[in-house]
Amino acid sequence: MFILIILITVFIYFELYYLIRPSKLGKDIIDKYNFDYPVLIAHRGASYSAPESTMPAVKKAVESNIDYIELDVQRTNDGELVIFHDDNLLRLSNAEEVFPDRKNYYIRNFSLAELKELDFGSWFNDSHPYRADEDYTGLSILTLEEVIDIVNPDESGVGLALELKSPYLYPNIEEQIIGALKDKDLHEEEGKEPKVLFFSFSPASLSTMKELRPESPRVLLTRRNIVVRRQWNSWLNIAEDAADGLGAKGHAVFPWYIAAAHKKGLFVFPYVINTARQFQIMSWFSADGYVTDHPELFGNFFDRVRKLGEKAEEISEDVFSD
Ligand code: G3P
Ligand code: CA
Repeated sequence: MFILIILITVFIYFELYYLIRPSKLGKDIIDKYNFDYPVLIAHRGASYSAPESTMPAVKKAVESNIDYIELDVQRTNDGELVIFHDDNLLRLSNAEEVFPDRKNYYIRNFSLAELKELDFGSWFNDSHPYRADEDYTGLSILTLEEVIDIVNPDESGVGLALELKSPYLYPNIEEQIIGALKDKDLHEEEGKEPKVLFFSFSPASLSTMKELRPESPRVLLTRRNIVVRRQWNSWLNIAEDAADGLGAKGHAVFPWYIAAAHKKGLFVFPYVINTARQFQIMSWFSADGYVTDHPELFGNFFDRVRKLGEKAEEISEDVFSD
């Protein structure tokens, strides 16, 4: 019993404290990178209102006053970099219909020309009839090159958060991505907001990115929703070497975890944060950025908050009580 009381006291003192007084170090960390605070990132484009990772999702995200568009990069069997989340084509395309005889539908086993024959939009209209749009029918897969042409951070002011998706499947994809950015003349500029971020679950891949392009910040993604302190600390230790911050799976991000990250100079971007309630909680916990499927809703909100500075709290109450 005595030990239990000691443990609870220690917990209240060292952890619960941050529930009442969340860390205030995040803004300085974010400023170091010249990010706007907080950083708002559209997950697979505006994927609530348009088919994920397609042109309309990217365009809607750009129009939403956000800072970055998060997109997953993979490679075709003829070496082209494409934007796609799943490892196979079944959920998001009509690949089974167009290529009924294939043994499997892993995207890495298809050429770009084959992928360009597929429809990556109709599944959305079928799954979400209330958000359907006939323009979504027949949407194509995007290459990384096409995305850079659509977004072009130099013109749109919106950056790219590129996730290296399953990089172990794609040897040297890091070099190839860096090459594609160089080809499009996308370079970071001293004192300005980064144009490109790299996300990955793979510390090895992030370390490679650190060597190849140290000026673009890196975010280590964490997968689990329920996280014990030891696991969190081990992510922090890995991130200290390979990354600049953590992209933490939403519900695990307690304020004492964010405070521990801040103490190591790391920022924390929880994902995927889609409701007003989640935004409210995470901003109380002092998250430094948010990865959302719904940038239309929150991009405008954060833009207003940025402009209004001190009035932010008032505005927050106003928006969140809608
Ligand atoms: O931004 C983080 C997020 O993209 C990682 O998860 O599965 O959506 O790629 P996932
Ligand atoms: Ca992703």
